[in-house]
This record gives sequence, C-alpha cells and structure tokens, in this order.
Amino acid sequence: MTNSPTVIVLIGLPARGKTYISKKLTRYLNWIGVPTKVFNLGVYRREAVQSYKSFDFFRHDNEEAMKIRKQCAIVALQDVKSYLNEEGGQIAVFDATNTTRERRNLILSFAKENAYKVFFVESLCNDPEVIAANILDVKVSSPDYPERGRESVMEDFLKRIECYKVTYQPLDPDDHDKDLSFIQVINVGQRFLVNHVQDYIQSKIVYYLMNIHVQKHSIYLCRHGESQHNVQGCIGGDSELSSRGKEHLCCLCIVIFLCVFVLYQGICEEMTYEKIKETHPDEYFLRDQDKYHYRYPGGESYQDLVQRLEPVIMELERQGNVLVICHQAVMRCLLAYFLDKSADDLPYLKCPLHVVLKLTPVAYGCKVDIFDLKVEAVNTHRDRPLAVPPTLLRRNSFTPLSSQDQVKRPRLFSVGNPPRLASVPGRGHLSDRWIAAAVTTFDHLHPRPASLPSFDYPGVTRCQDGDGRLHPF
Ligand code: SIN
Repeated sequence: MTNSPTVIVLIGLPARGKTYISKKLTRYLNWIGVPTKVFNLGVYRREAVQSYKSFDFFRHDNEEAMKIRKQCAIVALQDVKSYLNEEGGQIAVFDATNTTRERRNLILSFAKENAYKVFFVESLCNDPEVIAANILDVKVSSPDYPERGRESVMEDFLKRIECYKVTYQPLDPDDHDKDLSFIQVINVGQRFLVNHVQDYIQSKIVYYLMNIHVQKHSIYLCRHGESQHNVQGCIGGDSELSSRGKEHLCCLCIVIFLCVFVLYQGICEEMTYEKIKETHPDEYFLRDQDKYHYRYPGGESYQDLVQRLEPVIMELERQGNVLVICHQAVMRCLLAYFLDKSADDLPYLKCPLHVVLKLTPVAYGCKVDIFDLKVEAVNTHRDRPLAVPPTLLRRNSFTPLSSQDQVKRPRLFSVGNPPRLASVPGRGHLSDRWIAAAVTTFDHLHPRPASLPSFDYPGVTRCQDGDGRLHPF
C-alpha cells in the first residue's frame, strides 16, 4: 500500500465547509505536484434529478430518493476508480456528507477492493452564525435554488440539515472508528483531532488543514522595483534598482512581509535571452519546450522553486493582510497557487513590474484587484513560444502535471439520464464564452488601467460553486 492512491473522504452535515475544504486542499495538492481531483456528490445528484424541489428529497424515510442518492454515490466512486487507475490521478477527494457508517463502510469496502488508502476529513461545527454565513455565502447561489430569495433558501436549507441530523453518526475516535485514519476539524479550525496518520501525504494534508483559516484577508503581491538588469534585458543577478524602480519603492509605504526567494538561473545568470540563445542554444530551446520542469544547468526550475516556496504559502495562509515583494518567478508560483493555475500555465503568468495584485479569497475562489502604481517600467514578459523544435529531449525530473480540471463531472448517461448537452454548464473545461463573460464582468467592476491593455487572467474572476458554475463578483 506504500504507493497506493488515496481517497480523501469528507464527512459532515451540510453547510460545514466541506466543499471549501475539498477545493482548497485539491488546489494545494495539485500545486505541490500531486494530481488530485474533487468528486462532488451534489453534482452527481443534480445530474440524476434535474430539478430540486425541497428538503423532502433528503428525508431518511424518502425511499425512492435514498435509492437515487446511493446510486449516485456508486457512480461517483466508479469515476474515482477511473481517475485513480486510468487517468494518472493520485488523490481523489470525495466531497459528500457521508454522515452514516453504512455509507462510510461502502466507501471503505470500495477502497479495500482497489487497494486505495482512505483518509477521512470530518468538519464538526455547531456555531449557528458560521452555518448561516456559509448558507448565505454559497448555498443561495447553488443551482438547487434558481430564482429563490435568500430567506426561502435559508429556510429550506436549515430543514435539509435537520434531515441529515436524524441519521448522523460522527466519527467515534475512542471506540468504533479508532483504527481509521482521519482528522476532525472542530469549529472551523478552533480544535483538531488527528488519528492514525498513515503516510507522508496524509501528514501534509493534516499540516495544511491546520494552517488554513477562514477569516477575511488579502494578500498583496508585487515585484521588486525595476532593476538595472531589467532595463538591460538580463535575467537573474542582484543589480541596483533603476531610478523608476526606486520610485516604485516609495509608492509601497507599508512592507509587512518581505519575500527573498529568487529563481537561480545557473550558468545563464545575468545573461539576456538573446545571449543565451547565441551561447547555449540547446538550453534556450529546452526551456521553451517545458518551461516548468526545465532546470538551468547549475540552477533551478520553476518546479524546484514551488517546492522551496511551500513554507511561504503556509505562512501566507496563516497570516492576515500581507504584502509580498518578490521576483517575477516567485510571483508566478504564488499566483498559480492562489488562482489555481496548472504547471503548464504557471511560467507564463503575466506579472508586470510596478503593479500590485490584491488577492482576496472569496467563497470557493479568489478575487483579484489590480493596482497600477503608475510608474513606467520595461516589459520583462516573454510569451509562450508558438512553435518549439520537437527534437530536444532532456528533462531534469518527472512530476506529472497537475489536474487541469479539478472537479470531476459525471460521465454522460452515468446516472441513467438522457444527455442534456445544451443545458449542462461547465462539463469539462470552462468554455471560452464563460471565461470571456467572467473577464468582462471583472472589467466592469474593476476597470483596468489603460496602461495595462493586455494584462489578462482568464478565469481569475470566477468563483466556482460545487456545481462548477461561475459566479461573478
Ligand atoms: C447533495 O445531494 O447535494 C449532497 C449529497 C450528500 O452528500 O449527502
């Protein structure tokens, strides 16, 4: 079982932050290079029962509904199996209530049959204010409640929770469940109970969950001021700031957290790209071929940098409002974590000089505000090359790219329905049309400075719900 895939199984009444935990944990695991995907049972249920009427569906004595719900769980587990056995996944996050021992036993038998490890994450919370805030934050916009007012959603959802309470059997660390591997997150991280951690990845999951919090906070990211090397087009090095770079520094009056990590470019340090192309053409093309994994001889890759930055992410998760001043490569790595960008996209994220990005975690996503400090600077961005010679083949290490679409969509017909191609939003990758709509909304709410016409982050404005729907801010 040492290298077996893991199924992380959420447990908890509705509105206990299970989807929040699932998505955030999945984003983190993908960022550190562990291919992970969320399987949200609500998505499967909505596929099977196309129009939700009321909490009655969740009554334990509603036999017909109980059958459908069990069938949905079985189908979702089959998708978990395909992901872990055939699609290169290493961790599947089963985001569902899983409130009964019967349901957990079903999952444990499934895992045993397939030699998967199971790690349970139970969210226990009895604070009515937290529960109400959660319902208002994410349930009012749930596809279960189109065109319903907040009060009517709140009323129905509270009744739904009561339905689950009738049969809820929390984990019992002292007796019945003492041999299972799990963490209980009590009152949104006020206390934790950790039991029988089996391996390194489970200990990392525990560490991560113990560091995150849900208090409102923003992270401000910006690069150092323009340097002499930037002006000369050289990479790396440790040169003086240009006069415009010093001006930029004056604009940043409060420095709370200073990040000193850089990407070391080894033998190419302090060269221009033209010089690298001329003196080390193989290196130049190898990098274009796979910029994330490429490691400069004697230097580092983006992948190396992500690993070095993990403690910084943990610290940023723990902090309140923080300003991080860093180099372009570091900013890209941090941005990719917050905006859920794949390893393939990470090295091409646009991080102009003299611009501050304000990242504010909201619901299941991250809101981005862009502040142009209005101090001119050179453009150090190099676009992804359109064509790369296919013949070069050196790779420093192999880590599978993280899962691009991190929420699993049920397969067509998988829960016994006729196809609804035209009306199922968000299956597979986000469509260009949606991204365009989200970006347009973002532009409308936060007009971009005219000086940043091509500064696009397609998708950053999205706040996705458990159904994969986009919600503009
Ligand atoms: C749902 O149908 O919305 C959730 C099902 C569950 O996890 O109990």
